[in-house]
Amino acid sequence: MIVTIDGPAASGKGTLARRLAEHLKVPHLDTGLLYRSVAERVLAEGRSPDDVEAASAAARDVDLAALDRGRLSGAALGEAASRVAAIPEVRAALLKLQQDFARRPGGAVLDGRDTGTVIAPEAEVKIFVTATPEVRAARRHQELLARGENLRFDQVLADIRRRDERDSGRSAAPLKPAPDAVLLDTTDLDIEAAFREVLKIVRRA
Ligand code: DC
Repeated sequence: MIVTIDGPAASGKGTLARRLAEHLKVPHLDTGLLYRSVAERVLAEGRSPDDVEAASAAARDVDLAALDRGRLSGAALGEAASRVAAIPEVRAALLKLQQDFARRPGGAVLDGRDTGTVIAPEAEVKIFVTATPEVRAARRHQELLARGENLRFDQVLADIRRRDERDSGRSAAPLKPAPDAVLLDTTDLDIEAAFREVLKIVRRA
């Protein structure tokens, strides 16, 4: 069974996807890490995240086995990742890798913006996780503080709003729920309650 979990930044989709994959005992791919690793490589080369040539070359070189969540989850890479992710050539270069992952025998859980719309439209279960920008910013703020990144709440909120706008407004695979996705609003749910809802959705399918 293929399960896709999409949604905006800091909606909780990553945590829910990881937990669901553990529960179902299938592999999990956090597709945001692909864009983050492209951004990391481009920045390391001293190029801009808007540089189509540099970003496409980096995308063609991505190695799934080398993705390190700890290293890639910082705030600066999130912003740069959102910029490389708006480049159609980058998305095209990362497409097959993600589709091969989704179609592994035995199934998979994928999370990320276009997993239910572009990567695996055939997925049996598609969940679109949302929460208000304020609640998402508060969660991301806590995460960043725990990583030792001392940003103010209002900076994190501004970053979330900017990324929402860029991710929704771009023409290549904009952030939007698949028509057959189940919406899950986690504004008033903690992670345990949200995970119980995810399990209900999967069981219903
Ligand atoms: O989920 P995240 O914060 O790790 O994602 C980083 C950026 O990558 C985000 O701003 C949008 C982009 N992204 C995307 O465009 N498509 C995906 N499938 C996953 C992430």
